[in-house]
Amino acid sequence: MIKIGLLGFGTVGSGVYEIITTNENFKKSMKDKVMISKILVRDKNKDRNIKFPQNILTENADDILNDPEIDIVVAVMGGINPSYQYIIKAFENGKHVVTANKAVVSKYYDTFLTTAKKNNRAFLFEASVGGGIPVIKPLKQSVKINDVDKIKGILNGTTNFILTKMTEESYSFEDALKLAQELGYAEADPTDDIQGYDIARKLSILSNIAFKSTTSVENIKCRGISDISKCDIEKFDELGKKVKLVGSAIKIEDEYSASVEPLLVDKNSTLGTVNDAFNIVSVSGNTVGELQFFGQGAGKNPTANAVVCDIIDVINGEYENFDNDNKKVIDSAGAKLFEGSYYLRITPENKQQIPNLIDFLLNKALKFKICEQDENLIIITEAIRADKMENLVELLNTEHKNYCYARFDDNKILA
Ligand code: NAP
Ligand code: HSE
Repeated sequence: MIKIGLLGFGTVGSGVYEIITTNENFKKSMKDKVMISKILVRDKNKDRNIKFPQNILTENADDILNDPEIDIVVAVMGGINPSYQYIIKAFENGKHVVTANKAVVSKYYDTFLTTAKKNNRAFLFEASVGGGIPVIKPLKQSVKINDVDKIKGILNGTTNFILTKMTEESYSFEDALKLAQELGYAEADPTDDIQGYDIARKLSILSNIAFKSTTSVENIKCRGISDISKCDIEKFDELGKKVKLVGSAIKIEDEYSASVEPLLVDKNSTLGTVNDAFNIVSVSGNTVGELQFFGQGAGKNPTANAVVCDIIDVINGEYENFDNDNKKVIDSAGAKLFEGSYYLRITPENKQQIPNLIDFLLNKALKFKICEQDENLIIITEAIRADKMENLVELLNTEHKNYCYARFDDNKILA
């Protein structure tokens, strides 16, 4: 009998439990030889909407980590500490580790790979990127042949769900977020979703594998969706665009740029038609060309499905830890490898300030066309480098707090 210890019994943990205990296909293929023997929670007495034997719960991680009968530890409790300490201890105590926790994987990626290798244990983290989408496993396979130079995608279910609801059904931001939380898409602290940090973590995990390197979240220029207002969404619609929060990483020779930012995409483009909590990841390799991975990016069942697929691979011995030994050194180029036209809306406290704002922008030698100059100043810039746009916005930011800017996903807008 293979015994599993779950660290966490929330949205993902309960989904994993349900698949392992009730899914007939799983039970048949594993010949009923897999069981969840213990589950770590914060509060044993909490009401849980799921049937399970009460004595399986523990509030003491050592009941799992020090149990010699447990073969696989599934880390689905979220956060950095104590998840990090528990995962290291699990490896040191001879257990395989499967996790959905992108925060801890992106921060301790190298350490986990090294510790897993040292202890000859599996370290699988498919569910940490793209929820139910199998992307890590095919990516590991692809880089055996390909040099990857581009990763781009919608990598967060919560923000894509919120933007879809705001765009298609005129939801307020607050109502859409509340619904995403009820559906189990959001992180315990939804700031991680809204401000783009969750995407940055996923992008760093993908970049580490794709570029065979170590890329840090700190090098990812990260913006979220909180500046986008109803009037922006209406304007995007008039322009034939939709806004999507997109993670992109691009590598040119020994340099890379990575960003999380609102992008304006054509309504009928591939990115424009990925709605609700669905995610899409596109990866470009020199041999295979562009690969796209699409599916449900968050939620109980899709995510638990990815976790259980990793568990099956561990049990069948069909896994290969990613080999990080011969990694390449690549340097962060900030945001400078990205370029495009930008939508910029500034809402000054007093509309009398608008002529001064226009002068300020002209003095910065920026070419732009004015779309609106009433309560708001709305402009569309010529194609400029992302780092130059960031500098410009930083200068504006000292005086004007109410603004929104987003890059067009092509350079054609002023043509
Ligand atoms: P969740 O619903 O908040 O569940 C967290 C679980 O962990 C709860 O059972 C909680 O115990 C337990 N827990 C938290 N801190 C603990 C501690 N210090 N000691 C003991 N137990 C602790 O979270 P989730 O949505 O399942 O997410 C779990 C992980 O999967 C996170 O890393 C998340 O980023 C990742 N993930 C989530 C999704 C998704 O769609 N939700 C998708 C992909 C990846 P109590 O039940 O007693 O509170
Ligand atoms: N909060 C995350 C999201 C969960 O919304 O995408 C899946 O990683």
